[in-house]
Amino acid sequence: MITYSSTPEFEDLLSSLPRMEGINAAYVYQYQGFWYGPLGLQGLIDCQKHFQAHKNDIFLVTAPKSGTTWLKAIIYALINREAFHPQDPHHHLLTKGPHQLVPFLEFKEQSDYDWASNSSEDNSTRIFGSHIPTVSLPKSIMEEGKVVYLCRDIKDTFISLFHFSNKAIFRSSPISLENAFDLFCKGASSAGPIWEQILGYWKESQGRPHKVLFMRYEEMKEEPLVQLRRLAHFLGKPFSQEEENSQMLDQIIKLCSFENLSNLVVNKTGIWGGEVKMDIYFRTGVVGDGKNTLTTEMCSKLDQITEEKFCGSGLYM
Ligand code: A3P
Repeated sequence: MITYSSTPEFEDLLSSLPRMEGINAAYVYQYQGFWYGPLGLQGLIDCQKHFQAHKNDIFLVTAPKSGTTWLKAIIYALINREAFHPQDPHHHLLTKGPHQLVPFLEFKEQSDYDWASNSSEDNSTRIFGSHIPTVSLPKSIMEEGKVVYLCRDIKDTFISLFHFSNKAIFRSSPISLENAFDLFCKGASSAGPIWEQILGYWKESQGRPHKVLFMRYEEMKEEPLVQLRRLAHFLGKPFSQEEENSQMLDQIIKLCSFENLSNLVVNKTGIWGGEVKMDIYFRTGVVGDGKNTLTTEMCSKLDQITEEKFCGSGLYM
């Protein structure tokens, strides 16, 4: 089971915070209005104290199970397409998992990459994943970098989280669907309540569209080329006519497709961060699994909460 490195200061902090049972951790703790497992909270506080963004940095922020793995791969392939053509047989994505190539900001211990050792004189583009809500994000991120926010239908996100939690090694015992559902509605998912996390980035994307791009998993599925162009444009790396003509976009989509990534040996049998099996990040990769799996009452309840929370924001799901 993955755990955090305990210190007296951190234990003092934990004991001072509201806590409840977590879905993906024994307990989650409320910090700056959001709930975190100890590992994520420790990483978040570390980032708040020490992380300094550089001007070319890219941050992919998501609620867990919204398609982080997929978009990490896409952004990596997009940014590195000059060095690595998507059809290059030596492409890094063929031998390393997306979470190895694009580390999580707040799970530094689990990452093979040490952000603290990277100097700001290095002009290379760094790409990070994160689940940190806007209110807790280190200030330099919005000032220096660009943020891509990816969201997904809440029912699909929940069902994906439920399956993940019972496969992952962050809990000591499995959780029932009913219990996970109640906790999810109360906001107990990492960086939850999910609605408030989404809303924070939605508002930023409306107020600062050059800084925050709001994307949806379902739109990536439905019109991948349109969304890939949109992403490339936002990141300041638009596709040239020559790249368009040479099917570069299709090749990136194919390289990062569920079918391709989930069948690679590295993602079937690989481990990242010493303990996390890569294959738990690939399950079905489809739209609508939540509606097909949850009871009618559960679907209605999630739809109702979503409607109430997003009411008046201009955001619909
Ligand atoms: P399901 O459990 O619904 O299949 P995250 O990466 O944020 O942890 O999200 C994991 C979800 O994204 C899982 O959803 C997983 O199957 C799906 N996923 C992973 N890689 C994908 C890809 N290349 N294309 C589409 N979906 C993908």
